[in-house]
Amino acid sequence: TAPSQSQSPVTVAVTGAAGQIGYSLLFRIASGAMLGPSTPVRLRLLEITPALGAAQGVAMELDDCAFPLLSGIDISDDPAVAFDGAQVALLVGSRPRTKGMERGDLLSANGAIFTGQGKALNDHAADDLKVLVVGNPANTNALIAMNNAPDVPRERFTAMTRLDHNRALAQLSAKVAAPVTDIRHMTIWGNHSATQYPDLFHAEVGGRVAAEVVDDQQWLEGTFIPTVQKRGAAIIEARGSSSAASAASAAVDHVRDWVHGTPADDWTSMAVPSDGSYGVPEGLISSFPVTCADGAWSIVQDLELDEFSRARVDASVAELVEERDAVQGMGLLG
Ligand code: NAD
Ligand code: LMR
Repeated sequence: TAPSQSQSPVTVAVTGAAGQIGYSLLFRIASGAMLGPSTPVRLRLLEITPALGAAQGVAMELDDCAFPLLSGIDISDDPAVAFDGAQVALLVGSRPRTKGMERGDLLSANGAIFTGQGKALNDHAADDLKVLVVGNPANTNALIAMNNAPDVPRERFTAMTRLDHNRALAQLSAKVAAPVTDIRHMTIWGNHSATQYPDLFHAEVGGRVAAEVVDDQQWLEGTFIPTVQKRGAAIIEARGSSSAASAASAAVDHVRDWVHGTPADDWTSMAVPSDGSYGVPEGLISSFPVTCADGAWSIVQDLELDEFSRARVDASVAELVEERDAVQGMGLLG
């Protein structure tokens, strides 16, 4: 059926619009993959001044797709303008990691961007704003934006671990020779970094505990976990630049599930402000198993973490605490 244009457009702000992820993400959003086939979108693109010309070029290409759902594009180098009326804000713009860099190196390079953007979201975005931070270090950048936007409810700030979640699905699917659609309850815990913990003790394949289906602790510990943790670096090594189309696809998945809900028999992974669940200090933006309904997420409660899992969750959360303390020391938390 032809898309109905009866709904008013949803305003989606995207930062770093002229970058690699933007080049994939904007076309998926405009095609309706993120908000659905009957929701028109108005794009508001933010770029730094020297990249405005390139952003114009991307907007020309978006025009040339004649997407039925795309109701307008605005471009600015001023966050106050780009975030005006934003209902969904995808904070992608920041410097990507290059070969040999760890995410910690990005804290100072990128932290400052998110104070200004947090303030601008606070002052200019719509009341129903939802924020996804993709730019690295994503969890801590989301923490900075959240702390600089005191009038925006904290639960509206999230960071992306959906790419890690999807990577874990793909690795497990290949190992057990089952389609990804047979897998439920995958979880990424902690930070979007090499300390993250992809959990096969709660994941299920065809209704059975994934770790038992795999039945190979050496693969789980020596191959699966490090492969998922280091996949970002492996892509950088292979491609010469960081993941882009897969990151854009994960961002589409994250926002789609947040807005439209997770399937009744499954959950997903999102980095969200902790309420103290699973011993994660309150306010840290950490990845958890979450379900979404009616445009809101909630952390799946009461999962048992054995000693193996507990130690790995704790290590990643300890890294988030270190990152928080570092940006607090730089005065970025307001
Ligand atoms: P890129 O360098 O190709 O594009 C980034 C764009 O952001 C550039 O066009 C740049 O001009 C723009 N930019 C820089 N500062 C800005 C600002 N203050 N406001 C608006 N725009 C600004 O990078 P990319 O490959 O698109 O990656 C973007 C970010 O996403 C990087 O930090 C990367 O590490 C991160 N990333 C995260 C995940 C994840 O899973 N969370 C996955 C892949 C990449
Ligand atoms: C990824 O996971 O692919 C991105 O976060 C890029 C990176 O620096 O690892």
